Amino acid sequence: MSLQFSDKKLQEVKALIAKYPEGKQKSALIPLLHIAQEEFGGWLDVPAMDYVAGLLQILPIEVYEVASFYTMFNLKPVGKYVLEVCRTGPCMLNGSDGIIDHIKQKLGIKEGETTPDGLFTLKPAECLGACGYAPMMQLGKFYKEHLTKEKVDKLLDELRAQASN
Ligand code: FES
Repeated sequence: MSLQFSDKKLQEVKALIAKYPEGKQKSALIPLLHIAQEEFGGWLDVPAMDYVAGLLQILPIEVYEVASFYTMFNLKPVGKYVLEVCRTGPCMLNGSDGIIDHIKQKLGIKEGETTPDGLFTLKPAECLGACGYAPMMQLGKFYKEHLTKEKVDKLLDELRAQASN
């Protein structure tokens, strides 16, 4: 069966597209990519992007361009938890390199990799707009701020416990 949203999700998507004026449906692309990523396992493969292109009646290349530009879209499989650690100036000056190294060592993975158990992906990110709370990371819909190695350890333990429940 080809890739598609559930009927309920499709209604939501159609309502979203209808918010934009006739001929400007492409403006719904980013919200649709977020929905597709959430619905199709946390990442966007070519069939998922082609499906979104079909819904918006635009060319697949227009979807690929956007999905490959923004780091919040994953173009390969990721773990259940994606640790997006900011490494731009203010976060770097406040120790993000040490946080990234700590995560790498703790999880035994490099940047862009996922742990063999499929739980964690480490994905360094550029400024996430929370410089005043540096160093920080994005974890799904949440920001984790003023990170320390101890806070990271606690977070990883909590996520492991959450995943096993
Ligand atoms: Fe890290 Fe802005 S530099 S949030």
